[in-house]
Amino acid sequence: MGVLDYDELRRKPVEELTREEAAKELERLAKEIAEHDYHYYVEDAPVISDAEYDALRRRNDEIEARFPDLIRPDSPSRRVGAEPSPKFRKVKHSVPMLSLSNAFSDEDVYDFEWRVRRFLGLGQDDPLDFTAEPKFDGLSVSLRYEKGRLVVAATRGDGYEGEDVTANARTISDIPQVVEAADFPEVLEVRGEVYMPISAFVKLNEEQQKKGQKVFANPRNAAAGSLRQLDPSVTASRPLRFYVWGWGEHTELPEDTEWGMMAKFREWGFPVSGHNEIHHHAGELLEYHARMLELRPDLDFDIDGVVYKVNRLDYRQRLGFVARAPRWAIAHKFPAHKGITVLQDIQIHVGRTGALTPVGILEPVTIGGVVVSRVSLHNEDYIKGIGSDGQPIRDGKDIRIGDTVVVERAGDVIPQVVDVILDKRPPDAKPYEFPDHCPVCGSKAVREFNPRTGKLDSVRRCTGGLYCPAQAVERLKHFVSRRAFDIDGLGEKAIAQFFDHKFIRTPADIFTLEEREKAGEICIHCLEGWGEKKLSNLFSAIRAREHVPLDRFIYALGIRHVGETTARLLARHYGDWESFYAAAKEIAADMDGEAAHDIENIDGLGPVVVESLHNFFAEPHNVEVIDELLLHVTVEPVEQVAAESPIAGKTIVFTGHLDSMTRDEAKELAERLGAKVTNSVSKKTDLVVAGPGAGSKLAKAEQYGVQVLDEAGWLKLVEVAKG
Ligand code: IVH
Repeated sequence: MGVLDYDELRRKPVEELTREEAAKELERLAKEIAEHDYHYYVEDAPVISDAEYDALRRRNDEIEARFPDLIRPDSPSRRVGAEPSPKFRKVKHSVPMLSLSNAFSDEDVYDFEWRVRRFLGLGQDDPLDFTAEPKFDGLSVSLRYEKGRLVVAATRGDGYEGEDVTANARTISDIPQVVEAADFPEVLEVRGEVYMPISAFVKLNEEQQKKGQKVFANPRNAAAGSLRQLDPSVTASRPLRFYVWGWGEHTELPEDTEWGMMAKFREWGFPVSGHNEIHHHAGELLEYHARMLELRPDLDFDIDGVVYKVNRLDYRQRLGFVARAPRWAIAHKFPAHKGITVLQDIQIHVGRTGALTPVGILEPVTIGGVVVSRVSLHNEDYIKGIGSDGQPIRDGKDIRIGDTVVVERAGDVIPQVVDVILDKRPPDAKPYEFPDHCPVCGSKAVREFNPRTGKLDSVRRCTGGLYCPAQAVERLKHFVSRRAFDIDGLGEKAIAQFFDHKFIRTPADIFTLEEREKAGEICIHCLEGWGEKKLSNLFSAIRAREHVPLDRFIYALGIRHVGETTARLLARHYGDWESFYAAAKEIAADMDGEAAHDIENIDGLGPVVVESLHNFFAEPHNVEVIDELLLHVTVEPVEQVAAESPIAGKTIVFTGHLDSMTRDEAKELAERLGAKVTNSVSKKTDLVVAGPGAGSKLAKAEQYGVQVLDEAGWLKLVEVAKG
């Protein structure tokens, strides 16, 4: 094999690397992973997603497993503390620190006012106050006061759990340690933003540079880096400030509006922005937004927009939350920052579900204080600018490697290419050819036909599901899940652990764990938490699954569009594995042959399943993995349905509680007796089995005149059916 270029090399499956190539890759990975560790742990500013980072580490481990003598002294796998223990104690937020939904246009703001009025049943002229405030671009913290004393300061974290930075927060002079006011609530979590003034940030960077120490990318990073210091004296030396914007858990509040509360915070000694205002209509809010945008360059702190909030707290209570954001507030962002740069390359990332996503690699460019070097290019139609039907697509671009592109960064959103500057296109730039094979495992990658839209799916997917390392962990988790192989003691965590230690790669490996452990080839008992008893229980649970019913086996394979119900229909139709496998292989060879038509004739199945089976079984990697698995597992044929089953062909819904069996068992039994079980009651439902606690489904059954049985009636019916 000739010399590969850098990018081809990084995509080459590990199994195919030569020694020389492996050494090169290990060198690259050591460097890249160290860089990302630095961004993450030191700068507090990761530049790739966790999943991408994990993929780098996994590749490093896989190459090292194949070429143990090439392990470098600076290998990420050797570095002590490569995954440092979390620096700070975790703190659970008793009231989550949620996000805000965003308004980007005037229309979004009018919509916001309209939605709030409609929800509260207020007319256009009924009084309704909004506060308008700057949206500070710093680091959110929650300061918990009990009896007027600061007891815990925590960062936002993921909104539910943050880091304990109490000692550091105490060094910030804007944050009161004690509040003595008589009306200060017994418990109050004061929430706001820790930030570094821009002037202070510039000065700090100058000093850092002089001392030869690290400089920060922007005030936000500087604030985060300064607050998240293990040594509070470092935090104390950094010029951090604080603004309040809200509160979390609290006992009785002295005011019933945001405006009133902000006045109180000021009185109690907390810094509140002098730019907060009260307004009554979207039009006024928009004027505020325009004024603040103009003012922004003159402010000594970064803001990335403004926030509008319903002023009355009783209204807020009624408005509540949707998903992770309140209905009573909205952030109105400032227009996105843009930058111009060159697209150097397009790389394909394979996700855990096999989706191939193109990522644009940019000549790094600073946009609004952040270095951007990657953009999402969504999918192949977007890059081409043309859909699978040959029509131009909205927002599609015809993007080529070498193009000069306009990149936009809007808030937390992943940067986007918003324009291509055609005048600057190199004369030899060719349209990008999207790979039709998975860059991770080499399996075929396909776009499915979507019968609903009549078009091909925009996403191309790797079909080597059981084999592809990018998908392996998810597939293995599915394989052992409760409705598939259901292996006791082998849950998601254990799978991830075993995968990381390279004990399992494909399902067949699960069934050789015991043998390999006993031969000393692997060492599960060396891992923390795997004592002798637990391990022997695991081995017997695995042995117990060496015989598995056909429907579970088919489901466990994780074929796209073959969920539990479809797997059951297929199992019932074919009866045994040999017949199903023969049909699947026929479909792999010919999607329009007899076997395919046979499946389309099964009630409830159609061309989508046929295409999926075709894609799955046409991929030799999958067949290999299955054949290997079959060396360890015996697939049991389906029990035949009693011919005279009174529920054969009927559609049944279960609702409420059953005493004698779980809902899953009832479902399985009904299906074994030839019935179809659905979740919702419609006119087509033949029978509803209702236990105590049945609600709307029972009411619907009565409305449609569907036959209803209680548990005793159901048991009698199945007794008859089972003969
Ligand atoms: S109110 C339920 N007001 O922006 C959340 N948040 O993108 C209520 N932020 O989580 C948040 N300035 O960390 C609010 N004036 C302001 C803010 C502000 C900055 C932060 C805060 C929030 C995030 C939402």
